[in-house]
Amino acid sequence: MAKGQTIKVEIKRQATPDAPSYTEKFEMPYRPGLNITSVLVEIAANPVNTEGKETSAITYDSNCLEEICGSCAMLINGKARMACSALVDRLLDETKSDTITLAPLSKFPVVRDLAVDRSVLFENLKKVQAWVPIDGTYDLGPGPKQAPQIQEERYPLSNCISCTICMEVCPQFNTQTNFVGAATIAQAKLFNMDPSGSVLKEERLRALSGDGGIQECGFAQNCVQACPKQLPLTEAISDMGRDVFIQKVKDFVSR
Ligand code: SF4
Ligand code: FES
Repeated sequence: MAKGQTIKVEIKRQATPDAPSYTEKFEMPYRPGLNITSVLVEIAANPVNTEGKETSAITYDSNCLEEICGSCAMLINGKARMACSALVDRLLDETKSDTITLAPLSKFPVVRDLAVDRSVLFENLKKVQAWVPIDGTYDLGPGPKQAPQIQEERYPLSNCISCTICMEVCPQFNTQTNFVGAATIAQAKLFNMDPSGSVLKEERLRALSGDGGIQECGFAQNCVQACPKQLPLTEAISDMGRDVFIQKVKDFVSR
């Protein structure tokens, strides 16, 4: 696309969590180097739709603008991705069209327009106690040392940005199941491998053996393909599946 041409943006909107959704269309001059967040900023600066009617700016979440905070996930041309790293030039190339569609993630309650309530992920992280427990905020000195090979295995898992894309694309994450999703399982592995965090290892494994736990995974592997931070999710699920099984056997024989 060349300068002077027009981009069309079709946005699924919803005024409140219970209001009906509708599509509103916008047009704007093409400029090279736009991302989806900057498209939404341009609409906010001049919120007039293609019918020439003044409307409200689009509501969406965004913070870091560099794929770190995880807040801006949405459906862009039908695919779950981050608005700040979704480049308009690539999107137009991908569809060979001058139209980009935006919609909120489909498996999370809509707050307004493109903003959704993703608190289910944080509730799931609480279920598996995805943290290192501490008994205060005073200086505890340096933590225990970790072997470089453990650091290398843990580092990619620590890159999770809580964007919930892995849950959005997972067929097992739906209203019929309580499946916690790949991100929570990966974070349980991350903290089980931590020399201090491993004090809660057994509790995490038991949390993953109950309702909504690891047995709900259907190995569709959509998560690992869609994760914007390339977490080794299927490996984490497989490792945690083994550990959950071992924990179940241990609990059974010690009854
Ligand atoms: S595992 Fe990947 S897709 Fe899932 S929440 Fe973390 S960064 Fe997002
Ligand atoms: S704005 Fe932070 S990840 Fe997109």
